[in-house]
Amino acid sequence: MELIVTVDENWAIGKNGLSLAKLPAEYRNREKLTLGNTVIMGRKTFLSLPQEQPLYGRENIVLSSREDFSKKGITVAHSVEEVLGLVEDRPGDEIFVCGGEGTYKALLPHCDVAHVLFVEMEYDANHYMENLDKSEEWELVEESDEQTYFDMTYYFRKYVRVR
Ligand SMILES: NC(=O)c1ccc[n+]([C@@H]2O[C@H](COP(=O)([O-])OP(=O)(O)OC[C@H]3O[C@@H](n4cnc5c(N)ncnc54)[C@H](OP(=O)(O)O)[C@@H]3O)[C@@H](O)[C@H]2O)c1
Repeated sequence: MELIVTVDENWAIGKNGLSLAKLPAEYRNREKLTLGNTVIMGRKTFLSLPQEQPLYGRENIVLSSREDFSKKGITVAHSVEEVLGLVEDRPGDEIFVCGGEGTYKALLPHCDVAHVLFVEMEYDANHYMENLDKSEEWELVEESDEQTYFDMTYYFRKYVRVR
């Protein structure tokens, strides 16, 4: 599995259930990577999508412990084990974990590639993802040139699991 995330300098990813930065490049990059593939997200991230609709053109797997949670157009997985079973049933598919905090935490150990949009800012935040720069299990293997959007500077980074 692969992971897609936007982080700030402290690897913050959100505040009070909302995202920190809204970059057109973030949306474009997610579409480019995930269209035609499978995306996995937590129930809260799913419910924050416009009109609570699945991401079009992709298989949507939503992680929730709630037995009564269901929505048209999604597959609900009730545990990490259930996610792994669903993923095994899709050999050859590219599977992308798209957040949020609890879901990254639960599935990071099962990912071997991370696509990180790194924003050079420090936001006021209360949702975080593990800092892969501080982890011996991950290595930065690609970084784009510096990109800008108004006053924001950002980079696309690719990390791979080395252990
Ligand atoms: N920067 C980014 O790239 C990015 C991307 C996505 C989201 N975010 C941010 O992340 C924040 C939301 O994070 P979050 O942790 O609250 O939401 P989340 O991960 O989207 O959803 C959390 C829910 O997922 C389910 N879940 C997670 N782990 C599970 C497990 N092991 N087994 C069963 N169910 C599990 C639970 O649902 P139940 O309660 O139904 O059991 C849990 O309440 C927001 O601020 C959002 O903006 C940032």
